[in-house]
Parts: sequence; structure tokens; C-alpha cells
Amino acid sequence: HVLVHVLGARPNFVKAAPVIRALAGRGVEQVVVHTGQHYDRAMSEVFFDELGLPEPDVNLGVGSGSHARQTAALMTGLEAEFTTRSPDLVIVYGDVNSTIAAALVAAKLHIPVAHVEAGLRSFDMTMPEEVNRRLTDQLSDLCLVTSPEAIGHLAAEGVDVHRTHLVGNPMIDTLLRNLDRFDTARVRAAHGLPDRYVLATMHRPANVDDPETAAALVQQLHGVADLADVVIPVHPRGRATLLAAGLDDHPRVHVLDPLGYIDFIAAVRGAAAVVTDSGGLQEETTILGVPCLTVRPNTERPITLTHGTNRLVTFEELVPAVRKALDAEPAAEHRKPPLWDGQAGPRIADVIMEFLGD
Ligand code: UD1
Repeated sequence: HVLVHVLGARPNFVKAAPVIRALAGRGVEQVVVHTGQHYDRAMSEVFFDELGLPEPDVNLGVGSGSHARQTAALMTGLEAEFTTRSPDLVIVYGDVNSTIAAALVAAKLHIPVAHVEAGLRSFDMTMPEEVNRRLTDQLSDLCLVTSPEAIGHLAAEGVDVHRTHLVGNPMIDTLLRNLDRFDTARVRAAHGLPDRYVLATMHRPANVDDPETAAALVQQLHGVADLADVVIPVHPRGRATLLAAGLDDHPRVHVLDPLGYIDFIAAVRGAAAVVTDSGGLQEETTILGVPCLTVRPNTERPITLTHGTNRLVTFEELVPAVRKALDAEPAAEHRKPPLWDGQAGPRIADVIMEFLGD
């Protein structure tokens, strides 16, 4: 059997590593197609090196563009790959444009699709990721689910329950596997970070694309910096607008280039609190026990609110929420989402092998 993994953007790499590892030695041929959606060394290569991902068999070099242009280029490149390689299954991850492009191309070629991280819903169709999630699940033969409520979402959308499998969270497999590599003291020294800091990341189009919104956000981040140092590794999207809005005009704001996976999670682990609009970071802080303030009106990961450290905040609520998090006693052991135990990769491999009839 030939399996093709389609990876495009930073969070895909973190989710795919344990799946590829678990499938190795099960008698299947694995092909890694990198679409090139993310192409900067710090956004891509560093992750392959650090996570021990196999070198991609091919990089389609699609790069950036409008949604239509990027998705069209992704589909054209993937169609040629799938046609020549005739895989028995295409495996897609998460909710990025590479995910939906691969699922759509595979479905039209009658190639089965497995979607890792199926069924998450923000119910906010203004998010490009929500569009990608819904459509990918409709096209997938295997919906591999990280969180129990996702099963209900899929059922409500008419996805046959036999296609749905609760397998746990492969992003957490990667986190737990690398725990002893996250050395906060080393990352502090390497990047000149203060002892106590709030780690921030911002890249959602809704927060950083519009200059006025970005300026309002920067004002709130400066409010946070009045309470504690703010360390912010800046994603290429939004870098220009955030800096134009004066992000680094505060003496306690430390703007960094994007970090690799190991340094980034080490910095998260050592933070007094996290301020973010990322999806995956809501999950990672849940397992690390670091308070997380998510600057979004909704989340597709509500289990991080009920079982984790996450809280949704508006711009206005951010500064008081950070103050409260900084003043709070470190939380005692809290509940963890079911099956976020480091074994999602092997469970996914089992479901895939059964699907292939082995
Ligand atoms: C994508 C995902 C988002 C995910 C994020 C993680 C979609 C629709 N969005 O957003 O869900 O949370 O990845 O990082 O797929 N750029 C670079 N170098 C790179 C990649 C991007 O400079 O290696 C810049 C370019 O200016 C580009 C912009 O970032 O136009 C946006 O890149 P794009 O791939 O469209 O989406 P992301 O914002 O990265």
C-alpha cells in the first residue's frame, strides 16, 4: 500500500510527525508531499529537522497568494502527484488551505482520504479554517477525531458514524515526546528573555490584517507590557501591520523572529501566561498547565476551556485577564482531555491499517 501525507503549514508538521512514525514498520510505503505553503526556513525546514520528519519526497513550492490563487496552485500540483503515485490513501492534517486542496483533489480522483483532527468547529464561517474543516470532513473516508464533541459535530453534518474515530491528539504526542528538550533556561539565555514574561503570538487574519484592528490590539498588548514583559515571536503574516502600529515602541515588548518548535515550546513552558489567537497553542498550554488567554470571539477547541487553562477574551478583557492570571496561585493538577496521552499516533496507525484491510 502507498500512503501520501500532505503537509503544507507549520502546525501540520507537528501533527504528522507521530503519525508517520507510528506507520513506519507497518509494511506500507509512505510518501511525504510538502506543498510549500510555508517555505521560510524558520516556518518549515527547522520543524522537519527538529521533529525527525523524513525529508519530503517532493516539495510543490506553492508559496503564498490569495486564497483562490494559493488553493488553485495547491490543487494543480497535488493532482499531478496523486495521478502519478496512485496512493491507496491520502492523509491530510488540520485546517489549512493545503488540507482542503488535497482532500478535494483526492476525492475527485476517487482516492480515499483520512483527515487527522476532524470535526473541530468554531461555527464561524468568516474563518478560512472553518470553511476548510467543514469541507474536508465531507470529503473524508476516515475522520480522525481529537476531542469527543467533534463526533457530535460530524454526526450533525451527516457524516456516517462508521467513518468517525476518536483517536486523541497527535499534536500532544509531539509535545509529550519532546518534554525533556524544552529547556526554558537555555531559551531564555539564547534570546535574552527576562525571568518573568508573558508570551504572545498573533497571526489570525481577523486580528492582524486590518491596520486599525492591529493598532487596537497593539494598544492592549502595551497594556499587558505595563504589567509584565511581553515576548512575541512574530509570524510573517501581520509582522508589517503590527510593527507599523508600534508594537515594539514599548520598552517591555520583545519582538522575536519566528522560533523553531523546541525553542517555542520551551518559551511557552517558562511563561507566566500566554496571549494568543493560535489554535494549537490553546491545546499545548492545556497540557503544560500555563494560563492561556485567547483573543478570539470563539474557539473550535472548547475542550481547552472545560479541561484546560484556556479562556476566551475580547480586546478590552485582555489586560484584566492577564492581571488575574499573573496574580493567581499556580493551578493544581487539572483535568486533561481524554486520550491526550501521547498515543494518538499509534491509534491513528491502527485505524488506517484496518481501513486498508491489513
Ligand atoms: C496558515 C493557516 C492558518 C495557520 C497558520 C499557521 C490557512 C488558510 N491558514 O496561515 O490556519 O494557523 O498557517 O502558521 O491555510 N509567509 C511567509 N513565509 C512563509 C509562510 C507565509 O512570509 O513561510 C507570509 C506571506 O506573506 C503570506 C502570509 O504569511 O502571504 C500568509 O501565509 P498563508 O500560507 O496564506 O497563511 P498563514 O497566515 O500562514
